[in-house]
Amino acid sequence: MTDTLPGRALGTPLGRIEGPAKVTGTAKYAAEYQVANAAHAWIVQSPVARGVLRSVEADPALDGVLAVLWHGNAPELHEGDDPELSVLQSERISYRGQVVALVVAETLETARRAAQSVVLDIAEEPHDVVLRADHPDLYVPESVNAGFPSETAQGDVDAALAAAPVTVDVTYTTPPLHNSPMEPHATIAVWDGDEDLTLYDSNQGPWAIASGVATVLGLDPARVRVVAEHVGGGFGSKGSARPNAVLAAMAARLAGRPVKLVLPRQALFSIVGHRTPTIQRLRLGADRDGRLTAISHDSISQSSRLFEFGEQSSVVTRHMYAAGNRYTGHRIVRLDMPTPRWMRAPGEAPGMVALECAMDELAVALDLDPIELRVRNEPPAEPESGTPFTSRNYLACLREGAERFGWADRDPRPAQRLDGEWWVGTGVAGATYPAMAQPSTAKARRLPDGRVEVLVAATDIGTGARTVLTQIAADALDLPVSAVTVRIGDTELPKAPVAGGSSGTASWGWAVDGACHKLRESGGDEAEFDTTELLKDRGMEGRHAYGAHFAEVRVSAVTGEVRVPRLFGMYAAGRILNPRTARSQFIGGMTMGLGMALHEEAVLDPHTGTWVNHDLADYHIPVHADVPSVDAAWIDEEDGDLNPMGSKGVGEIGIVGSPAAILNAIWHATGVRVRDLPARMDRILPHLPG
Ligand code: MOS
Repeated sequence: MTDTLPGRALGTPLGRIEGPAKVTGTAKYAAEYQVANAAHAWIVQSPVARGVLRSVEADPALDGVLAVLWHGNAPELHEGDDPELSVLQSERISYRGQVVALVVAETLETARRAAQSVVLDIAEEPHDVVLRADHPDLYVPESVNAGFPSETAQGDVDAALAAAPVTVDVTYTTPPLHNSPMEPHATIAVWDGDEDLTLYDSNQGPWAIASGVATVLGLDPARVRVVAEHVGGGFGSKGSARPNAVLAAMAARLAGRPVKLVLPRQALFSIVGHRTPTIQRLRLGADRDGRLTAISHDSISQSSRLFEFGEQSSVVTRHMYAAGNRYTGHRIVRLDMPTPRWMRAPGEAPGMVALECAMDELAVALDLDPIELRVRNEPPAEPESGTPFTSRNYLACLREGAERFGWADRDPRPAQRLDGEWWVGTGVAGATYPAMAQPSTAKARRLPDGRVEVLVAATDIGTGARTVLTQIAADALDLPVSAVTVRIGDTELPKAPVAGGSSGTASWGWAVDGACHKLRESGGDEAEFDTTELLKDRGMEGRHAYGAHFAEVRVSAVTGEVRVPRLFGMYAAGRILNPRTARSQFIGGMTMGLGMALHEEAVLDPHTGTWVNHDLADYHIPVHADVPSVDAAWIDEEDGDLNPMGSKGVGEIGIVGSPAAILNAIWHATGVRVRDLPARMDRILPHLPG
């Protein structure tokens, strides 16, 4: 670890503290803990999308099988707020891939073999798995995530659209997407008696997992210990307990010994969540100068029979542009499909595809530069509520980004630049993500050797959280980073929220900063800080990070293949606490956005209700060769209204808007408007010029 001068750690590009442990293999992930006498479990998943499970029969000839759990013999669970955690409780099958049985065996191989040879007697029923804009069961939910009203309306959108000299009325669709963290969901469950449970579990927040598991098992949450010291990615799919944690705990209790359950990669595509497909209609009306008079954003998404999950795709439109007449709304249909859940920038990521592509279409209709169109519609305060922004440097991102990317001499006409077989074009799109903070506690204590240990039940899911928290602590203590050790990833540490909503650093860091200041000022040996009261009345209005994404694309005139030689993001995200780890978050998000624009797509087989490409061989994500130049930069932004560090989140904004920049560049290169993601060759090639 590079050291720092006392009090000067924040803002330095400190390398990841656990980096050496990770590259030498000593950092332990959930399934790697050595637990004596552990048995192994393997899941059995439903082969049908809807039906009733009548019986489960294991092959009696297999040696070493300890138990086969299913609803016919599984212990009864308590009801929690997530029906997906009520595992093996019902004969009803709600989606293909749902866990219907669990085999526990002496070895992993036996468990897997037994699971694969189990005979299921299922009464199959006709299923309904296809999302369509005219589905008769679409309804407006009471609210969408995370608690926002489903609909908002101001003025008269229809009248304003009818009166507007220039309008755009377009529908964009986004496919189901999968989080695909490198480390699969995994749990080792160890009981000590009937009331004390330890889970080594891969997750985004150990306290949240302890609470979810304790609820369904009827345990005191204080007696469920969850350890998640190192986590290999989550992207939202590990933000709350997943079925693996409950299954492992049930199986370990029944087997009377520890049980290890690692989900196979293919299971991640059905049982831990994914991003719902969306169908979004955007209607924009503007006067001839490009001032918006009407914005309407209607989003359709799906959820499962088990759970109403309302992806908030239209919410982002409430915060972006000024217009006197506005509507945003959401409709959902419950299908015989897996439950969608959080995936990096839920809502914003799909929502901004539709909004920012529609804005590009409007710029073309107006014959106006797309950056200038956004400048003309910059709101002085939150467009719907009128709440002032704590800081909003969206236009600065667009302008500074344009400067660095080289936008000034751009010929706005499409399909003008053919370089060999390649059509060349550039595109821009805006980005925003809320700057949130959740209540957190942290403790700081002086060790006998003068060093300070900081304790907080945060998680580092690969973001660099541990490193940034160490920097925050070091500066608050006025010590070099080498004098500080931050311990995270365990419910034995002070209660802290999940790594989610790009709010981890703001939330945990605030508590860490408070505890360290308190320790330093009190002169004592230990200090604790809790931000709950400080955050009590804080709303979400007016607090956002911003960005502008710029893409250069090359589209083959021969095959329709899209390459992205350059992707650039310019951000305004408060104070950047560690430029190295922040840049990594930005470009990671942008790369995921590139995947969303060009590659990622779960393909539904309507006959079976399964995603055909449920593995990383067929579900395509970008590789290094797909992103020759992806870079991020930021504006120094001061915002004293956020937290003691002045930071906004950086984890999600990179995926917001970057797909739209690529789609807009494809139009500029070729004149082809791709409105259904991803921009596959077959969606481009037939429409290419001449
Ligand atoms: Mo993220 S989808 O907020 O874990």
